[in-house]
Amino acid sequence: MLPSFSPAATAAQPRRIPGSHGPPILGPLKDRLDYFWFQGPDEFFRRRAASHKSTVFRANIPPTFPFFLGVDPRVVAVVDAAAFTALFDSSLVDKRDCLIGPYNPSAAFTGGTRVGVYLDTAEPDHARTKAFAMDLLRRSSKIWADEFLSGLDSMISNLESELNNGAAAASYLVPLQQCVFKFLCKAVVGADPAMDKLVDRFGFFILDLWLGLQLIPTQKIGALPQPLEELLFHSFPFPAFLIRPGYDVLYRFVSKHGADAVAVGVDTHGLSQKDAINNILFVLGFNAFGGFSVFLPFLILEIGAKTPTGVNLRPKLREEVRRVLDENNGAIGFGAVKGMPLVRSTVYEVLRTRPPVPLQFGRARENFTLRSHGSEGFAVAAGEMLCGYQPLAMRDPAVFDRPEEFVPDRFVGEEGEKLLKHVYWSNGPETADPAVGNKQCAAKDAVVATACMLVAEMFRRYDDFECEGTSFTKLQKRSS
Ligand code: HEM
Repeated sequence: MLPSFSPAATAAQPRRIPGSHGPPILGPLKDRLDYFWFQGPDEFFRRRAASHKSTVFRANIPPTFPFFLGVDPRVVAVVDAAAFTALFDSSLVDKRDCLIGPYNPSAAFTGGTRVGVYLDTAEPDHARTKAFAMDLLRRSSKIWADEFLSGLDSMISNLESELNNGAAAASYLVPLQQCVFKFLCKAVVGADPAMDKLVDRFGFFILDLWLGLQLIPTQKIGALPQPLEELLFHSFPFPAFLIRPGYDVLYRFVSKHGADAVAVGVDTHGLSQKDAINNILFVLGFNAFGGFSVFLPFLILEIGAKTPTGVNLRPKLREEVRRVLDENNGAIGFGAVKGMPLVRSTVYEVLRTRPPVPLQFGRARENFTLRSHGSEGFAVAAGEMLCGYQPLAMRDPAVFDRPEEFVPDRFVGEEGEKLLKHVYWSNGPETADPAVGNKQCAAKDAVVATACMLVAEMFRRYDDFECEGTSFTKLQKRSS
């Protein structure tokens, strides 16, 4: 389905895009320091949109100077819901090698393969690798829910014991990553990490390091004093050899224990053995493990918050979950969570307010007029890099009432569901479907269903729960 705005449509008189990239070196350096240090990403985009009185403007996106050679940080920032849809239009933008922006981590991180996510739809290998990912998901669908729920069961039982033994708080961050890693290995690769001691103990940690080395140059970390962070984390790309031994451990694991999944890539989709394994590892490690590691903690935190919104929301979720489960003989699964509108709406609202992958990029294939709301249009030149910032685009007051507020039931009912076309977390409208011809997340529906199952499982077990940061402080067992 196409987005409801038509970005390609020409406006009466396209505007010049406001803003400037500044002088060489100094312009990018100033923007980098604002982005990471003086303002942070959210303020960075908000202030520029306000000062240019425009939701489309020029800026520089880090990383840049001094050792990101050949990286051109100049972008056209896009922060409204209408113009953002241009980033989903394969006829307008080329998505080649711009997953995380103008800076593109070395293919040495992926065993020398340019994996599917870095390919543009015009490249024939994109269709092959996307179809392969979709096949892996189809194969996994029989065990996906059961494996997820069984991993969740042992994780939550352990956390509950910690609290019962007198701990004031039980951190779920690492246990959740371990649970997600194990479940994804079984579901996507078809292999239990327990078959390899190293993978079982360190697999999730290897992926954390592997992700960190690729992403840190683009992220505000906040772990060190900012001058040090600028010097050590944001000034040069990290070399892939630092994680090569860990990557090789995972590569051998997939090659040996995930042979059936690899065979799907080789026999059905015509990939080489090496490219099939590297693509599986990317989908497993970057897309799936990386995505869930960011998203699920946001979800738990938002619902378990001690705020009035959290306190009011939990009884309503509990009531809906229990009612639907009673009708389904207590079984949680893809089908059951479809019948939980408030749970689903809450999940969408978390994805709207805290999109796990906040930035999307694409290079203009040719000159075009970028349509914003109404008849407003901007002249984009061939080769310019568009940089969409989802957290603002999905708080667009032209589309959402009370855009800054977390409104759990925003997407409930006929009117609420109409708003789903403006929920973009998957790199496409929530009302569209991933396909080999687009760049939308292959697991769009599985991600939402998995998040709903997590919420359902929490309220199946507990009358109430509370969180502080990434720890549970209360898990109140079901009384009836
Ligand atoms: C919370 C979890 C996830 C999030 C937030 C997420 C998000 C995304 C986003 C934003 C993109 C588009 C990237 C871009 O081109 O800008 C994407 C692409 C993709 N995702 Fe997901 N994803 C998640 C989970 C998964 C899972 C579980 C799988 C498969 C098991 C998966 C498979 C893919 C694939 C194959 C693509 C590439 C699409 C293409 O190149 O056409 N994702 N995902």
